[in-house]
Amino acid sequence: MNYIGSKFSLLPFLDECISEIVGEDKTSNKVFCDLFSGTATVGKFFKKKGFTVIANDLQYYSYVLSKQYIANHKPLLFNGIKEELNNKNYVTDVDIIEIVCEYLSSIEGEKGFVYENFCKGERKDEDEYRLYFTDENGAKCDAIRSKIEYWYKANKITENEYYFLLATLIENIDKVANTASVYGAFLKKIKSSAQKSLIMKPAEMIYNDQEHYVYNEDANQLIRRIKTDILYLDPPYNQRQYSANYHVLETIARYDNPILKGKTGMRDYSNQKSKYSNKREVKKAFEDLIMNADSKYIFLSYNNEGLMSFDEIKEIMSKRGKYGCFEKEYNRFKADNESENRHIKTNKTTEYLHYVICKN
Ligand SMILES: C[S@@+](CC[C@H](N)C(=O)[O-])C[C@H]1O[C@@H](n2cnc3c(N)ncnc32)[C@H](O)[C@@H]1O
Repeated sequence: MNYIGSKFSLLPFLDECISEIVGEDKTSNKVFCDLFSGTATVGKFFKKKGFTVIANDLQYYSYVLSKQYIANHKPLLFNGIKEELNNKNYVTDVDIIEIVCEYLSSIEGEKGFVYENFCKGERKDEDEYRLYFTDENGAKCDAIRSKIEYWYKANKITENEYYFLLATLIENIDKVANTASVYGAFLKKIKSSAQKSLIMKPAEMIYNDQEHYVYNEDANQLIRRIKTDILYLDPPYNQRQYSANYHVLETIARYDNPILKGKTGMRDYSNQKSKYSNKREVKKAFEDLIMNADSKYIFLSYNNEGLMSFDEIKEIMSKRGKYGCFEKEYNRFKADNESENRHIKTNKTTEYLHYVICKN
């Protein structure tokens, strides 16, 4: 997913720097915590390296992604719906996953919340509708989302299977969204990638032996209850609230029929406003987080345009032990080229990885 602040292309840099400070010893450095997990990219990487991962984010769609990529670690069997799928050739777990996704991809659309609120539908006047998805994809999204919920409520699928399907839907509906990457606005005309049909391409499965832990909480609350070897922090850098920029994904993930407001169809996000996106509150929140962390190492990704200055971060992190910092030139987050938002700058920023080796 093209997500603001995604660390996907910075993974080699993060890996190199973290290994240099921590070493490759996974026997004493076993637990990696990704406290602002977003797309789960960083947690996934460290799960694959053999760590026990704790992932957390304030947004529910992000929790869904981590429940799939981080918490799910055993093959999914879908025993409860095999009969309904009416297919007898279940050879391996990969096959059954693909069969379920194919079944959902070919489901007939229905006019539900997404169709009614995020598509054109039968409306003619431009002011009366939102164009986040084609009618076909909106209706298909509703049918798939309702089916997943029905299966889960009827105990036909397990919790692990439920989050696999929800994460698969979130990833794939995002691919056909008619936006310039974020959901703060939709485009006036349907762009070519949004014209493609919604297909349920299965979300990646990462198998291993350990349990992993996923939360949907404010980082400053959760930090008081967890103990970790490596704490990785990737909070928002600026005033753009993720709850506003990804509200459509939040609504599809929750499917809770919220009251939507205005042209963009924003749900109420007053209880999901991040202090890390508020100039007046960020420093206090960050200091509270650092001082309450029970971890051997703390790493923080931040760039040179963030709300906190380099020196403020250094001062706060130094209170916990031996401080250091790595840096790398980085391309700024880009909106889609096809979109109307070409004015978004594409020049470089400096990405920092601050760290502290904690004394206690
Ligand atoms: C820079 S993004 C993380 C990107 C992530 N590392 C990735 O690669 O996809 C910041 C994330 O922090 C989350 N967030 C913001 N404030 C939070 C808070 N107080 N507690 C937990 N998560 C928060 C946002 O929802 C967003 O997903």
